[in-house]
Amino acid sequence: MQSIELVEISKSFGLGNGSTNVLKEISLSVPRGEFLVIMGPSGSGKSTLLNIIGLLDTPDDGVYKLDGKNVAYLSARKKAKVRRNNIGIIFQNFNLISRMNVLDNVSLPLLYKRVSLVKRYERASEILKYLGIQEKEYYLPNQLSGGQLQRAAIARAMVNRPSIVLADEPTGNLDTKSSKLVMAALREIHEAGNTIIMVTHNPDLAAYGQRVIKMSDGRIEEDVTGAEMKKDIVSQQTESSKLAKATTDLNIKFSSKKKPVKSKRKLSRIKNRRSSKKRTSKK
Ligand SMILES: Nc1ncnc2c1ncn2[C@@H]1O[C@H](COP(=O)(O)OP(=O)(O)OP(=O)(O)O)[C@@H](O)[C@H]1O
Ligand SMILES: [Mg+2]
Repeated sequence: MQSIELVEISKSFGLGNGSTNVLKEISLSVPRGEFLVIMGPSGSGKSTLLNIIGLLDTPDDGVYKLDGKNVAYLSARKKAKVRRNNIGIIFQNFNLISRMNVLDNVSLPLLYKRVSLVKRYERASEILKYLGIQEKEYYLPNQLSGGQLQRAAIARAMVNRPSIVLADEPTGNLDTKSSKLVMAALREIHEAGNTIIMVTHNPDLAAYGQRVIKMSDGRIEEDVTGAEMKKDIVSQQTESSKLAKATTDLNIKFSSKKKPVKSKRKLSRIKNRRSSKKRTSKK
């Protein structure tokens, strides 16, 4: 059975002449347990599509089946129920509640599932520790750096162990080390048999996926899998690694220090040693 099936999903914003078709009859199947990557230029409709899959928005037209059941047009309450039992969302703009500390933010999805307070905090703490920001548990979101906010948002999406994780640029604000941590966490969730749908602009991260779709102007332009995808990504990676190498080379040039000057005594000792070697070899 398909885990997620979209058939001719359309969505527009605005009214009359001012309306724009953001999604144009999108059809997409995501089998249970797939790691799907969505790429495409800014404004092409990636977040809108993710919001519909995450049941945060309703399409104007089309069918969205989750495990065979059309969920697109459920009431807000029913959608919320399906969401909290199945879906974890890592938003592009974090969406943490500003007056709640990190621990409360992260444990919030468990409150809706009526988990006891102690268990909520235990689970939230555990996941914050895993993501390396446990020491910020009692901080408010506005006291965190961009990367820390990102990790708190990821912790919140993962806390109820959802079978579907939707991630919108989950490493957009992170340094390389934190990005690797986040990707390792997503890979782990995927390996446990869960579905991941991740939006990214970074071709290096696309390699984590089993399939990549490219969106352009509200449509799926390309759907690449297996060998094809690897070839495409490898060539993009070669490009980006060339770029990275060029940058590193530049850094090396700029930051290269002169060799440390050896003291006069050391130098004369080396000279003496060399000349005595020459003398012995001549003999
Ligand atoms: N609530 C809204 N009201 C009106 N227009 C909207 C709304 N949400 C999105 N749009 C428009 O829909 C288009 C697609 O937006 P979306 O956020 O899905 O793009 P995206 O592919 O995620 O871009 P990015 O890579 O920049 O995040 C944009 O032109 C945007 O202005
Ligand atoms: Mg977006």
